[in-house]
Amino acid sequence: MRAYDIIAKKRDGMSNTAEELTFLLTRYIKDEIHDDQMAAWLMAVYLNGMTEKETTDLTQVMMHSGDCLDLSAIDGVVVDKHSTGGVGDKITLVLAPIVAAAGVPVAKLSGRGLGFTGGTIDKLEAIPQLQTTLSNDVFIKQVNDIGLAIAGQTQNLAPADKKLYALRDVTATVESIPLIASSIMSKKLAAGSSKILLDVKFGQGAFVKNLGEARKLAQMMVHIGQNLNRETIAVLSSMAQPLGYAIGNALEVEEAISVLRGEGPEDVRRLCLILAGEMLCLNGKVKTAQAGERLASDMLDTGAAYQKLLQMIARQGGDVDTIIQNKLPKATCQRKIFASQNGYIHHINGQAVGTASMILGAGRERKEDAIDLTAGLRVNKKIGDAVSVGEELATLYYNESFAAKIHEAENILLNAYHIAEQKVTAPSLVAEIIKAE
Ligand code: URA
Repeated sequence: MRAYDIIAKKRDGMSNTAEELTFLLTRYIKDEIHDDQMAAWLMAVYLNGMTEKETTDLTQVMMHSGDCLDLSAIDGVVVDKHSTGGVGDKITLVLAPIVAAAGVPVAKLSGRGLGFTGGTIDKLEAIPQLQTTLSNDVFIKQVNDIGLAIAGQTQNLAPADKKLYALRDVTATVESIPLIASSIMSKKLAAGSSKILLDVKFGQGAFVKNLGEARKLAQMMVHIGQNLNRETIAVLSSMAQPLGYAIGNALEVEEAISVLRGEGPEDVRRLCLILAGEMLCLNGKVKTAQAGERLASDMLDTGAAYQKLLQMIARQGGDVDTIIQNKLPKATCQRKIFASQNGYIHHINGQAVGTASMILGAGRERKEDAIDLTAGLRVNKKIGDAVSVGEELATLYYNESFAAKIHEAENILLNAYHIAEQKVTAPSLVAEIIKAE
């Protein structure tokens, strides 16, 4: 077998076999096949696509390229959740404790943010002293003891995906449905849960920009799950505007806590309840997603979900008093932006909002960049809200070391808002739910 022939088949619109994909990937991780050939193959995939069978085979090769977690020592059916990433997406911080408080074990491995979207592990690290690196044994014991653990992915989870992703990133081949689907599913499958809920986000504040592409991605991932015997459901949720009001790590933790206390923004609460309903139903705890939503709502309203998060923070060494007393660290400088016309908010470009927050230090442009956990922004107005000239639209939060960037961030944020005279209503939060036939 030769890499050249495998690339030529893909270039000519044919399918690669499981043996060919195994050959390509296993040799690539061992540096026996180099970036030049792999880049050519990636571009051929980008241009010609992959069948469902090829995508499932690729997923399996990447999944088995490193550690696969064995969660069989956890009592009960473990349900995992994954978001394809969106601006202001703090859903895991609320959803995981809701589901755990309802008695369903949550063993969640999460990632860090890159580019304009954030990552759950960075957000959790805004809580002083909280540990996100847990050994497998500690992780599993914590789930058995308190029903909830959220930790960072180990270095050796789907390493083939990690190496391939870095190459995709520099060869303009990230935006390929089979490559995204196999990348996400290889990590989810290696993480060991028997059921998977996917929150596939679409819109300007997400990685996938339109509903049609999000639907194709969701269908592909649901089929991969089905082919590999892991029941998978995908919720297609809109990122026509940022989720909630806060963007940035400590600011988002603060907002998630306020939702857990029954005070937070309605869109975050609503999406958490819908996703929780599906997770509780996937686990078999309830018979319908509607019953799951009612149970989830009780977990929020009684404070049980809030207590569950506090329990997890304490168990992972975090400073619980900081949360209880609302004393998360804050940035030292603020800058407000104001409306320059009367009207209604028609659109908020989430990618621009995420970028404004990133350049003030809240996110990473490159994987190796350090981040400022206190930086970010808060939008005051959302789609459909009326505004008048001079009214405050948003506040940027940053530290002195980023002062030179404030004008750029301010301009990007101002341009993110589209205000017009006609009244509008915000698009619905969830467009579709996709399940295996
Ligand atoms: N997230 C992933 O994990 N992989 C992709 O390819 C895209 C988004």
